[in-house]
Amino acid sequence: MAQKLAFTAFAALIPLITAQQIGTDTPEVNLPLPTWKCTTSGGCVQQNTSIVLDWNFHWIHQVNSSASCATSTGAINSTLCPDEATCAKNCAIEGIPNYASSGVATSGDALTLHQYTQSNGVTSNASPRVYLLGADGNYEMLQLLGQELRFDADVSTLVCGENGALYLSEMDATGGRSQYNPGGASYGSGYCDAQCPVQTWINGTLNTNSQGACCNEMDIWEANANATALTPHPCEGDTCDKSGCGFNPYAQGVHSYYGNGGTVDTLKPVTVITQFYTSDNTTTGSLSEIRRLYMQDGKLIQNAVSTSTAGLDSITASWCTSSDASAASLGGLTTMGQALGRGMVLIFSIWNDGGQFMNWLDSGSNGPCSSTAGNPASIEAQTPGTYATFSNIRWGDIGSTFEESGASSPSSTAMSTSTSTTTVAKSPAQSQYGQCGGNGWAGPTACAAPHTCTLLNPYYSQCL
Ligand SMILES: *[C@@H]1O[C@H](CO)[C@@H](O)[C@H](O)[C@H]1NC(C)=O
Ligand SMILES: *[C@@H]1O[C@H](CO)[C@@H](O)[C@H](O)[C@H]1NC(C)=O
Ligand SMILES: *[C@@H]1O[C@H](CO)[C@@H](O)[C@H](O)[C@H]1NC(C)=O
Ligand SMILES: *[C@@H]1O[C@H](CO)[C@@H](O)[C@H](O)[C@H]1NC(C)=O
Ligand SMILES: *[C@@H]1O[C@H](CO)[C@@H](O)[C@H](O)[C@H]1NC(C)=O
Ligand SMILES: *[C@@H]1O[C@H](CO)[C@@H](O)[C@H](O)[C@H]1NC(C)=O
Repeated sequence: MAQKLAFTAFAALIPLITAQQIGTDTPEVNLPLPTWKCTTSGGCVQQNTSIVLDWNFHWIHQVNSSASCATSTGAINSTLCPDEATCAKNCAIEGIPNYASSGVATSGDALTLHQYTQSNGVTSNASPRVYLLGADGNYEMLQLLGQELRFDADVSTLVCGENGALYLSEMDATGGRSQYNPGGASYGSGYCDAQCPVQTWINGTLNTNSQGACCNEMDIWEANANATALTPHPCEGDTCDKSGCGFNPYAQGVHSYYGNGGTVDTLKPVTVITQFYTSDNTTTGSLSEIRRLYMQDGKLIQNAVSTSTAGLDSITASWCTSSDASAASLGGLTTMGQALGRGMVLIFSIWNDGGQFMNWLDSGSNGPCSSTAGNPASIEAQTPGTYATFSNIRWGDIGSTFEESGASSPSSTAMSTSTSTTTVAKSPAQSQYGQCGGNGWAGPTACAAPHTCTLLNPYYSQCL
């Protein structure tokens, strides 16, 4: 296991007093990425959060030498690392010298991930994965049971086969920080997910018996410009629901909803809101429903209504267990909700898929892409500049992280329906997508025909 005595650049200057060495070449400087925690009563408070690249993107070398601790195949050198304690003595981990060279950049509250980087005319596959850290150097543990998460996404350059992902895994808050891994979360250690990846390191320690790193995973957003999926993956121990009971509008039969020029127009920035309702509306109840809303140009857009499962427009506990036997056997949304209640780590990544060309997301019955469009070789040749941006990340009470704007001006559709004198309403009627009710709402409560006022939550009703 690689060693760090401390986490700051200054500490690297402290004389070493034990045989255990730290990487002193490059301090890890996590990139600031402010986020907000919100309540309905107190509004949103900025958090001093930052991001760190995954552990495997860090250079691990032999102490007193610049030779790698990895072998030519990328595995750990078992002579240097027969066990954790010996590995900690022989090997050191360095910080990321330049996040931009690893395809990661921040600007204000926006994080941009690039699939490829270019240097001296050479294109490299960066495919970064980063985690959200709290101000204490541990992972920020988002507790989203009975709460909502909001962010803005730019998916406009994410072509077929690309996946710009924002999701949660139930990683250890410290990244498995220990005597042999003092860096822990601030060096990006401890990754796990519901696919149970077998990696050199597990929970921050050397993985000497090829164990899979299994944990609850909530895929809030796996998306490109052509397709999007929202998928819970509950686990019990080392058994996980690897496919998950996901909601992809296209796979639900609604083909014009999400995409280039769609109801949710992926050529423009999109606000994505995901709400985790419990059966008793508390933050400790049983997760009963995962709802999705979008906002574009200040207007709220309801989720697609499935045509393949009549009327379904969210992931309900009953649909999850009836459509996915694996979810059913693992406790479905109840299990997922317990993990959301305990707290999960927010992860951002961009990747493509040499094995399946991401067909499970955007091709065949899942999306409009051809089955070969997602070949990474064609993406690299044709759109090496592909990137994902996530910004304005907020979480907290349901209804507290977003606000509609510009929705009260009547739409031309509403105006033209009122040209028939017999249907003109005397009191002002709200136009489509406009607000028509909610706690504290003093505006119009009637909707222009043919729209009806629909309750979304106690704070918001909308003309739909
Ligand atoms: C973030 O840091 C600033 C400056 O140090 C501080 O004033 C503020 O209270 C911090 N915010 C939180 C939520 O801790
Ligand atoms: C492991 O490291 C030792 C010490 O540097 C080196 O002699 C040996 O060749 C390395 N083994 C592999 C497989 O790289
Ligand atoms: C590194 O060098 C120091 C100082 O020469 C020495 O005490 C230490 O044992 C060396 N560590 C390793 C793992 O070679
Ligand atoms: C991960 O490591 C931490 C710190 O050593 C430990 O407290 C925790 O129980 C470990 N988690 C798992 C799942 O092994
Ligand atoms: C929870 O909130 C929803 C939305 O406001 C409401 O329809 C439902 O009746 C509430 N359930 C309970 C048990 O209070
Ligand atoms: C996928 O999205 C890209 C980027 O907007 C677009 O150019 C392309 O036409 C889309 N492909 C399909 C099959 O819809």
